[in-house]
Amino acid sequence: MTLSFKPMTTTRFVVEVEDIDLSKPVDGASVAALRKAINEHSILVFRGQTIDNDQHIAFSRNFGDLEIHTVKQYLLPDYPEIIALANRGENGTTPIDNGGAYWHTDISYKAKPPMGSLLYSLEVPPEGGDTLFADMYAAYDALDDDMKDRIEGVRAVHGYAARFSQMGEGGKRPTLSAEQLAEVPEVTHPVVRINRETGRRALYVNEGFTQGIEGMPMVESRTLVDTLNAHATQPDFVYDHRWRVGDLVFWDNRAVMHCATAYDTSYPRRMHRTTIQGDMPIA
Ligand code: SIN
Repeated sequence: MTLSFKPMTTTRFVVEVEDIDLSKPVDGASVAALRKAINEHSILVFRGQTIDNDQHIAFSRNFGDLEIHTVKQYLLPDYPEIIALANRGENGTTPIDNGGAYWHTDISYKAKPPMGSLLYSLEVPPEGGDTLFADMYAAYDALDDDMKDRIEGVRAVHGYAARFSQMGEGGKRPTLSAEQLAEVPEVTHPVVRINRETGRRALYVNEGFTQGIEGMPMVESRTLVDTLNAHATQPDFVYDHRWRVGDLVFWDNRAVMHCATAYDTSYPRRMHRTTIQGDMPIA
């Protein structure tokens, strides 16, 4: 199988992977090419796919072990590796309009945040319900030298519990149990994260889960996080993915922040996400 990669942005950020059928096992050479591509491009788009849950999981496992999300209410009953982002629910899962209408990096509140996420669309509204992606390598590169110096060696505090109930959907999100809360204590990560394989530097803060900067007074810390977030989400760094049924988008959480957009929720929206485990971010 020879893969081809078609640019979807004028920068290196997003490519479409052509000539691949994800319902079939992917050979070793293609997996190696995809691993290389996710380091080079940060977002790989596969269009026109028809895959079942086993095939989604099998393809995802080519890139690492899979994360089981803390909020079990969203996991498909027979496939805990899959989080169902389904506004009507699915097989008893709690309905959810999207994975987060705020800028975030998946599960950055864990000590070892996931390397990547693979989101597959099964039902989409006629308009809206896009996912926006911000290129955190480009955002870092474009910072002025003063800001680069200011954030070098600095660590940010990430957390889930405090945010979870506020974040979403007019209180529709489930309440976290004591056991779930115990899974997500606050953690710290470097504000500038280095990709171990390529040495590239990315900004690693996000609106959703970054609560502040370690050791910095609250107001100053919040202002810095907001400034970095506003910088990273400028249109120059953002790709807008308009979903079609059968799209699978694989993004690199080490280098990408994302945010779902609004839509008319009288239409169904149903997406399945697998999440690949990652390692401890390094500065
Ligand atoms: C996510 O946050 O993982 C999914 C975003 C979406 O629902 O568009």
